[in-house]
Formats: sequence, C-alpha cells, structure tokens
Amino acid sequence: MPLPSTLKIRRARPDDVHHLMAMAAQPSVRAGMLLMPYPEPSCWADWPGRSGATDLVLVAEVDGRAVGHASLSPEEASPARRHVRSLALGLLDDYQGQGIGAALLAALVDYCDRWLNVGRLELTAFSANEAALALYRRFGFEVERRMHGDAFRAGGWPDSLTMARFNPAWQWPKAPASSFEPASPLPLQGELTLRRATLADAAALAAMFDDLGTVSGTTQMPYANLPLWQQRLSQPAEGRLMLVAELGGVVVGCAGLHPDSHGEARQHVRNIGITVTPGAQGRGIGRRLLAELVDYADNWANIGRLMLTVYTDNAAAIHLYRSLGFEMEGTHRRYAFRNGQWKDVHAMARLSPRFSRELDQDHK
Ligand SMILES: CC(C)(COP(=O)(O)OP(=O)(O)OC[C@H]1O[C@@H](n2cnc3c(N)ncnc32)[C@H](O)[C@@H]1OP(=O)(O)O)[C@@H](O)C(=O)NCCC(=O)NCCS
Repeated sequence: MPLPSTLKIRRARPDDVHHLMAMAAQPSVRAGMLLMPYPEPSCWADWPGRSGATDLVLVAEVDGRAVGHASLSPEEASPARRHVRSLALGLLDDYQGQGIGAALLAALVDYCDRWLNVGRLELTAFSANEAALALYRRFGFEVERRMHGDAFRAGGWPDSLTMARFNPAWQWPKAPASSFEPASPLPLQGELTLRRATLADAAALAAMFDDLGTVSGTTQMPYANLPLWQQRLSQPAEGRLMLVAELGGVVVGCAGLHPDSHGEARQHVRNIGITVTPGAQGRGIGRRLLAELVDYADNWANIGRLMLTVYTDNAAAIHLYRSLGFEMEGTHRRYAFRNGQWKDVHAMARLSPRFSRELDQDHK
C-alpha cells in the first residue's frame, strides 16, 4: 500500500498529548507496549519539550491528525552508556500496514546516525509481535536477548526480545586499557554482618568506587562521587533495598535490589547491583550479599524476576551468579564504554521458584 500522500513526520507538540492517549488506548498499541490501560496523561507531559540533545519524540501526521509516534530516550544516566539510545514506536490500529511505521523508524534512525552520532540503538519488543520484529530487522536490528516473564500484559506473560542496531559509520576504535595494581588483601578480621545502608554509609560507599578494580566491574565512572551516593541514600525509592556488608566494623561491600522504571507492568522485577571492595574479594562476601538479596526477594518481597548485566570478562561474578541460580538470557554487544574500550555484557536473570511455576502454568 502506498504511503498516505499527506503524511508528515514532525516533532511532537503539546497539543499531541490527547492523540498520544488515544493511541495508547488502541488494542494493538496497548498490547505491544509497556503502558497500562488508562495511562496518566502526565506521562506524556514532557514529551514535546524533550531536548534534541538527548531525546526526541516524532509524530506521524496524516490529514492533520497524529496517527503514530516514535520516541528516542537515553537508556541510563551512566556516561559509560552515552553512545546508546533506546526507541519505542506506536501507530493507531487503522494506520498500520501502510508504511508509516517504517517512515517513522527511518526518520529516527537517520537522526541517530547522522545528527546525534549514536553508536548503539536498542529496543525491547514482545516476541509474538511479528510485524514489529520484521520491521526492526529490516532496519538492521538483531535480537540479542530473550526474556521470560519480563512483563505482565493482557492477562499473561509473553516473552520479550531485546534488539540492537549499530551505526554503520562507527569504527569502534579501541584504546589500550590502562592497567592498575591489584589491591592487597585488607588486614580485616572479625564477624561479617549485613545491614541496610543508611545515609551515614555514603562516604564509605563512594570510597569503594574510588578504585579501578571496583569501577571496572560496573558502569560507574572513576573518581569517588560522594554527592551521588548521598543523593541515592537520602531518597529511598519504593521497592529498593540496599545492603552493606561490614567486616570487623568496616564497610567492605554493598548490594542492592532496584525497581524497574516501567512501573506496574514490571512490578515483579528487580535489577541487581553488587560490589565488594577489591581488598576483601574472594572471601565469600559477595556470595553472602547475593544470597541475602535472593532470600529477601523470594521469601519476603515476592519478587518473581531478578536481573542483571555483567561484563563478559568478569568470570568471578558470572560464576557467582550462576551458582545462585541466574541464567544467561543473551549478550548485549558494545553495551558500555570501559577503560578505553566498548565492552559486551551478558544479561542474566533468575526467576523465583514460585514465579517459575506460575509461568509454566501460563505457557501450558
Ligand atoms: C563480583 C564480586 C561482587 C564477587 O564478590 P566476592 O566477595 O569476591 O565473591 P565471593 O568470594 O563470595 O565468591 C567469588 C566466587 O567466584 C569464584 N571466582 C573467583 N575468581 C574467579 C575466576 N577468575 N573465574 C571463575 N570463578 C572465580 C570464587 O572461587 C568464588 O566461587 P566459589 O564460592 O564457588 O568458590 C566482586 O568480585 C566485585 O565486587 N567485583 C568488582 C565489582 C563487580 O564486578 N561487580 C559485579 C558487577 S555485575
């Protein structure tokens, strides 16, 4: 079918909000995205004003009516992922199958390649959404990961796929990684205790990240950032748990469960972060911290799905995660910039036994 002759692709405007709401209420859009029914209009309030430096929301207009949108967002706050954007696409049911989605995607990809100079473009789609997957493949997106029980949609648990596409103009230069001295074991003895982190731990946690041995396992940046830790610890988020490990009264590790930003469709999900200070690694502290989070998630908070990303060269962490029931879901290529190089990460997840049984029932 030819493209509608009056098709116009333009930046979203404040008066598009009611069109976007109408779009979100369409059965296919509702099923294909992570929005809940009856979304709060304020979730679009900032869209038209988003700055072209980081985000962009485009609207497809036909006969003066907004019939589709495509949005681009920075994936995370970390500077290690500054080369990444994620995208989402949605069209009114009556305007699907006419090439409008492809026109929106072409405009967004062109904007990323030629203007923003984005290296890695990523998205998540449900595995049953064949029309969307075919469209993304046409634009060079490849599947990197399959997620089970990632989001609850329309009464069930469809699998989701993560896809990525790389800017063909990028050469991905590689600098030699700077080497650093492995830390000497800390002369600490005494009892290992775990407790919830408080604001008073900010300085100790920031100091832990003042070491390249720690930073290299994460998407954090070098040089301790005390205000960032103070901010994190003074604004407890709903559903977040942050533990610290103390050995002989000294903070030597931390681990946290962090809720997903997509709210209700993923309220059963937590992301995991864990770090043990280099001088105290290899003494079972990481295992204690992670086992405690898993117990809390399984038996108290009833969290169905725990997920994390880990650099593919972080053998100790991968071993630890596997031994506590985490499984590989896929590999994200050139996911983060670390020490002069773009590095791949494995995506791993662990489903609680209770949630696994529910998923099995659902897929029967
Ligand atoms: C990953 C990390 C949290 C583990 O904490 P830790 O206290 O050193 O871990 P533990 O001592 O509890 O256990 C480490 C396990 O890895 C194993 N291990 C250590 N080095 C290994 C290697 N090179 N290859 C495979 N396994 C290795 C240990 O034998 C141990 O397994 P075991 O209990 O079956 O014997 C810690 O190394 C760390 O903080 N690293 C820097 C930050 C980081 O990478 N965080 C993870 C981000 S995803």
